[in-house]
Amino acid sequence: MSDQLLIEEAMAARSACYCPYSSFPVSAALLADSGKIYTGVNVENASYGLTICAERVAVGSAIAAGEREFKKLVVVVRGGGSPCGACRQVLNEFSPELSIIMVDELGKVRSHTTLSKLLPQAFGPQSL
Ligand code: THU
Repeated sequence: MSDQLLIEEAMAARSACYCPYSSFPVSAALLADSGKIYTGVNVENASYGLTICAERVAVGSAIAAGEREFKKLVVVVRGGGSPCGACRQVLNEFSPELSIIMVDELGKVRSHTTLSKLLPQAFGPQSL
């Protein structure tokens, strides 16, 4: 699976972002071990704190389809920002070594990293 295809899927998902309060669209495409891609967008709410990030929407969709392990995540954020702390924690539950590609709103790759670099010494299933 090429990075470019995953980036295109994440970019295509962008039009579905629901972000009337922040006007800050975030979209994601998550590649599962099965080879399938699951997309997500941020879903805001009039009760602001109930907002769900794009990454967690993608994870939820994948888990509901029976997936449990993931290889790669593309996140599209203005300026190429990285996933928030809550999303890092949720991703860690399934794939601590996940590759993450951060892409800006023009589809340009801004950086590559791994979840274990973004969330060192994570608390996960093995901690219980
Ligand atoms: N957001 C995400 O979707 N993912 C992140 O990792 C960080 C933030 C969303 C939440 C909210 O809708 C908007 O970006 C501004 O915080």
